[in-house]
Amino acid sequence: MKVHNVSLKISAVGAAQYPLEGYPEIALVGRSNVGKSSLVNTLINRRSYARTSSQPGKTQTLNFYEVESQLFLVDVPGYGYAKVSKKDRQKWGRMIEEYLTQRQTLRGVIILLDGRHAPMQLDLQMIDFLHYYKLPLLIVATKVDKVPRSKWNKIEKEIKQNADLQPQDQLVLFSATTKAGAPVVWDWIEKKTKI
Ligand code: GTP
Ligand code: MG
Repeated sequence: MKVHNVSLKISAVGAAQYPLEGYPEIALVGRSNVGKSSLVNTLINRRSYARTSSQPGKTQTLNFYEVESQLFLVDVPGYGYAKVSKKDRQKWGRMIEEYLTQRQTLRGVIILLDGRHAPMQLDLQMIDFLHYYKLPLLIVATKVDKVPRSKWNKIEKEIKQNADLQPQDQLVLFSATTKAGAPVVWDWIEKKTKI
């Protein structure tokens, strides 16, 4: 999809603030700093509309990006940032669980993994959680511009082995730097949202 119109509809911390348009919605989840906001920017064709940072913990709220008055992309705060207090981690957990389990218009979840490393425990827990709630899943291995192309097959194989993927889960290698994989991500989004 070639995106021309996009707006940050709302930064929400709870269900009372979710948008009411009823558009189909896709959420992006993953560890802090893995590249969720960068993927949003690639998808909407903007350099830095979604705020990114080299410091983990940049995105703190559920950011609903309205795309072409057709769908929402939801940039979700990352997990696994060691410096977060226990209280804030619990707050995060409640916010994410409420969103992922109750949002009626949610059509699929993109989970980002760092293509340079094996999936971590929290990633595996998140994938289990999404499977449990039967949410359609796209696994995006990101930052692959930092890995030689000759190793890309190996990345795919290792993720498939380690992350306990199900046959319907799709996997794509992606780079926000080179835009590799972006058309595949859009194809998946269009299929899941039927736009
Ligand atoms: P939080 O909001 O903290 O959860 O992080 P995030 O997942 O939104 O990550 P963000 O998009 O802010 O990116 C984190 C850092 O990784 C930034 O410095 C980005 O420039 C960098 N980055 C993201 N994607 C890529 C990529 O595909 N390749 C490279 N080389 N760097 C990337
Ligand atoms: Mg972010």
